Amino acid sequence: MLDLGGRDILRADQFTVDEIHHILNTAGQFAEHLKNHDRLDTMAGRVLATLFYEPSTRTRLSFESAMLRLGGKVLSVASAMTTSSAAKGETLHDTGKMIESYADVAVIRHPREGSAEELAGGADIPVINGGDGTGQHPTQALLDLFTIRQERGTLTGLNVTLVGDLKNGRTVHSLAPVLALLGNHLTLVSPRSLAMPAYVTDALRKHDVRVVETEDLAEAAAESDVLYITRIQKERFENPADYEAVKGAYVVDLDLVKAARSGVILMHPLPRVDEIAAEVDSYEGAAYFRQAANGVPVRMALISLIAGAT
Ligand code: NCD
Repeated sequence: MLDLGGRDILRADQFTVDEIHHILNTAGQFAEHLKNHDRLDTMAGRVLATLFYEPSTRTRLSFESAMLRLGGKVLSVASAMTTSSAAKGETLHDTGKMIESYADVAVIRHPREGSAEELAGGADIPVINGGDGTGQHPTQALLDLFTIRQERGTLTGLNVTLVGDLKNGRTVHSLAPVLALLGNHLTLVSPRSLAMPAYVTDALRKHDVRVVETEDLAEAAAESDVLYITRIQKERFENPADYEAVKGAYVVDLDLVKAARSGVILMHPLPRVDEIAAEVDSYEGAAYFRQAANGVPVRMALISLIAGAT
C-alpha cells in the first residue's frame, strides 16, 4: 500500500494520511544523511528532467540539488516557453512522449492549470507537478508539512492561519486540504477579492475541523500556532489596477509578532515581496528559510520513492 513506485505526483490531496507520514519519515532520513554529509548513490545512472515554463528559484534548484545529492543526473530546460519546442506549438502530451526516453523522472512547472497532468498523460515515466498555474504545488505542500512537524512537533490539532492571496496561490490550494485531512483548524485571512476559492473551502468542510474566513490578520494571529504568509500573485492579475488595490494588504512586522500567540511559527513559500518585514527574520519562530531548506530532503524522498530507489 505504501509503495509509491511509478506514481505521478500531481496533487497534494492524492495522498492518504499513511502515505504522507511515510513520505515525511523518508524525508527525515534524508535530512539526517544530509546533516552527516553521507554520500548517496541510490539514483546513480538515472536522469531527472526539469521542464520549467515559469520562473522558479527554489523549486527547480532544490529538485536538481536533490537529484544530484542522490547520485543521479539532471537534464533541464529553463525558460522552456521560449527555448523548447513549446515555442513551435508542441503539446505537452507530445513532450511527455519524448521526455520518457531522455529521463527517468520529470518535473514540470507551467502557467496553465492541468499542465502536469497533460505531460503525465503522454509520459510513461513518473511526472511531478512543480506548480501548474493557480492549481496545485504538491511538493511544496509536503515540505510545508515537514516544516510544521519539525517546528511544532505535531501535524494535528494545530491552529494554522493562511494569509494573503488565497485566490491565486497554488501553495495554499495544495496545503489547506491536507492540513484539514490531518485534523488541523484553519483560519483563512485575505482581502475579500482574494478569498479562497469555493472548491477548496468545500473540500475543507468535509473534514471535522474549524474553518474560519476573515480579513483581520491581527485577530487571527492571536490564536495561531502557525502563520503561513503568501505573496499577492501579481502575475495572475489581468488588470494591473486590481493588483494595485490589494498590494501590501498584509504586512507581518515585529509588532504583529508581539501581538500574536506566543511561540507562533512564521512560514512563507517564498519569494516574499513586502508581506514580511526584514526585521522579523531574527525572530526565532521565523521558519521560512528553514522551510526552503527542507525542500531538498523532501524532494530527495519523493524522487526516491516514485523511482523505487529507497
Ligand atoms: C511559490 C510558487 O511558485 O507557487 N513559490 C515556490 O515554489 N516556493 C510561491 C509564489 O510564487 O508565491
